[in-house]
Amino acid sequence: MTSPVVAFTSRYGSTRRYATALGRRLGAPAVELADLAPASDADPLILLAPVYATRILGRRRIIRAIRSAPGRVALVVVALSPADDPGRGSLSARLITATGRAVTTFHVRGDLDPARLNWVDRTLMAALRRQLRRTPDTPAARMLLSGEPLHFVDETALDPVVAWADGSDTAP
Ligand SMILES: Cc1cc2nc3c(=O)[nH]c(=O)nc-3n(C[C@H](O)[C@H](O)[C@H](O)COP(=O)(O)O)c2cc1C
Repeated sequence: MTSPVVAFTSRYGSTRRYATALGRRLGAPAVELADLAPASDADPLILLAPVYATRILGRRRIIRAIRSAPGRVALVVVALSPADDPGRGSLSARLITATGRAVTTFHVRGDLDPARLNWVDRTLMAALRRQLRRTPDTPAARMLLSGEPLHFVDETALDPVVAWADGSDTAP
């Protein structure tokens, strides 16, 4: 590990929290992806981004950053659904395929506080809840229909990312 850099996108702060914690643990700066220097010599580069309506926030910028990274790259995807949800895997796999690079992917869970959403997200969430009312016994419905804040940020979920960045695991 020569000069690790952590870059992130975030709307309500969960991904920022993960990025800040990771930066602290690696002794690396955690910067907004929009502020990452175009000719960054980050190695490894660790990108963190949340999922909104089955899209990764900042997808185009992430693809550009991965393509121009000089060394190893990891992508940490933050979302509400369980980390082993197959839908999450295919979402990140599609993004990585678009980069043409080898990227190690990690999945962690974020928070959601319905009371803090902007009006666009509130409208999307209301539409999603209307759909979920038809299947109230599914895990997603049980999670989202109460309207209560959900707290899934767990900084220990970053342990494998730290091990990867240190080169002390065997992932590519
Ligand atoms: C409008 C909206 C759509 C979302 N869509 C998804 C989704 O498709 N899949 C998922 O697992 N989580 C989804 N989430 C949950 C976010 O990924 C989660 O709240 C995450 O912690 C947000 O990160 P941030 O606080 O860094 O912006 C959605 C949240 C909102 C508000």
